Amino acid sequence: MTTSEETNTEDPVDPQHFRKVMGQVPTCVTIVTALVDGSPQAMVIGSFVSVSLDPPLAGFFCTTTSFSWGELKKAEVFGVNVLGADQIDVSNACMREPEERFDGLDWELDGGAPRIAGTAAWIRLTKNQIIDAGDHEFALMNVVDMSAPDEPNEPVIFYGGSYRSLQPSD
Ligand SMILES: Cc1cc2nc3c(=O)[nH]c(=O)nc-3n(C[C@H](O)[C@H](O)[C@H](O)COP(=O)(O)O)c2cc1C
Repeated sequence: MTTSEETNTEDPVDPQHFRKVMGQVPTCVTIVTALVDGSPQAMVIGSFVSVSLDPPLAGFFCTTTSFSWGELKKAEVFGVNVLGADQIDVSNACMREPEERFDGLDWELDGGAPRIAGTAAWIRLTKNQIIDAGDHEFALMNVVDMSAPDEPNEPVIFYGGSYRSLQPSD
């Protein structure tokens, strides 16, 4: 049996160590979108999470230093576009300069929020509360609409610093 001291020689709350360990936690890849002053805004978000069924709530965490979050949080209606395994290019597009993120993307407004075509799931949110969470803010949102294709489109996963596809375990 190994002890925690043998496996962890680093400061347990050192930011590098925190990142390394959290790299073991796989996440979804979503594009959170909103229309701000008539312009579509987008940000890649891996921290999207379901919160409550009744009432329907979901949310995500944003770093307080993000320019994009500073813009997005001005909106009242948000889209969460859950990317499929064949949409890594969409995630890469949304890591470009903020004003270039929709260039070449297939999208339309759905209930006031930018909806990207061909995703694994679509969720429309309205703002509930923005909660301080250290160097991030937790955006707690009301779920007002959601849909997924009848024929499930497998999502892309982010793990260990890279994109992955799911594989059945059997
Ligand atoms: C797969 C992936 C997941 C991400 N998840 C988050 C997240 O949950 N919260 C966050 O604040 N930033 C997250 N980011 C980083 C932001 O998308 C990125 O820093 C931001 O869009 C940079 O633009 P800005 O500085 O203009 O805001 C993620 C990036 C990637 C590639």
